[in-house]
Amino acid sequence: MWARRVRIIVATSLALVAAPRAPLAQETDLATEIVEAFNRLFGTHPGARANHAKGIVATGSFVPTTEAASLSRSALFAGPPVRATVRFSDATGRPDIPDGAKAANPHGLAVKFHLSDGSETDIVLNSLKFFPVATAEELRDLLVATAESPPGAPEPTKLVQFLASHPNVPRASATATTPTSFAEEEYRGINAFVLVSKSGGRQAVRFMATPERIAHLEPAEAEKRPPSFLIDELGTRLARGPVTFHLQAQLAKPGDPTADPSRPWPDGNRVVDLGALTIDRRAPDSAAAEKALLFLPGRVTDGIEPSDDPMIAARDAVYAVSFARRAQ
Ligand code: HEM
Repeated sequence: MWARRVRIIVATSLALVAAPRAPLAQETDLATEIVEAFNRLFGTHPGARANHAKGIVATGSFVPTTEAASLSRSALFAGPPVRATVRFSDATGRPDIPDGAKAANPHGLAVKFHLSDGSETDIVLNSLKFFPVATAEELRDLLVATAESPPGAPEPTKLVQFLASHPNVPRASATATTPTSFAEEEYRGINAFVLVSKSGGRQAVRFMATPERIAHLEPAEAEKRPPSFLIDELGTRLARGPVTFHLQAQLAKPGDPTADPSRPWPDGNRVVDLGALTIDRRAPDSAAAEKALLFLPGRVTDGIEPSDDPMIAARDAVYAVSFARRAQ
């Protein structure tokens, strides 16, 4: 009964925000299991996201490069500046997590571009260099194994067993540490997308948002910082002046895996600058703004397409279930 209600709420939420397609029943069932696994691990916090619960909303604009227009016919890259809403966040479903906690990694940057025809296109990034697991099902299993391995659980714990067969998890987690500022971190889209040019040329890419300066804290130093030092610092920084990121695309070479976000592409692959994202204003009421905002990785405009990575549709369904629950 509840599963059916969730399916209806999710389908309605996605229809309202013009998502690419309604999720399949099995995607919604998996999404519900994943949201419940996040809740089991981090607790249920009414009104909060199941993951990346703590964050701050700001606004700005995006100015594309001409090279972006040659790769993609998207209205995002057509030329005129595009308004953007962004949300920086800490990982986990704990709205009170200290920004410097180890578990607050990876930090997130979600960007919503408001196109001139009234539609939206989203890019959702985090500070991992690659994903710990290959599929959404594996992420569910990792979350469940972690929830079932509290301190004192009999050894080998479920988590120890999971990690033994998934050595990529600690490797990926180690790529994200606490930044000195939300504005001094590099964020990656991790899942591959396809840019489609005016002539129909197709290029698989992974998005990145690169700041003017990247700086990280030692873990011991990060733990000592005030609980909301990243959120507060961004507000202070924006009061002084704008923050700029370069939206970039790492291009796939033939044979690079597009369907597996746990496998990074070679560092030597070409990176194209798609344009400058300038963030200049903290949302006047960030708490109300973040409640209403729904970022969907698969909500992309013509000229940008999801790749063959099934995690993108899985994420759309999970974010919609999380949204449906936090909106209630
Ligand atoms: C199967 C894989 C994943 C699952 C199940 C998952 C799950 C979630 C959930 C439940 C939310 C809260 C959504 C909401 O209530 O609006 C969320 C938010 C977020 N996720 Fe993921 N995620 C996955 C992969 C990723 C990846 C690969 C990235 C980065 C490339 C990422 C970055 C983010 C960010 C930045 C947010 C916060 C969005 C916001 O500010 O509203 N996630 N994720």
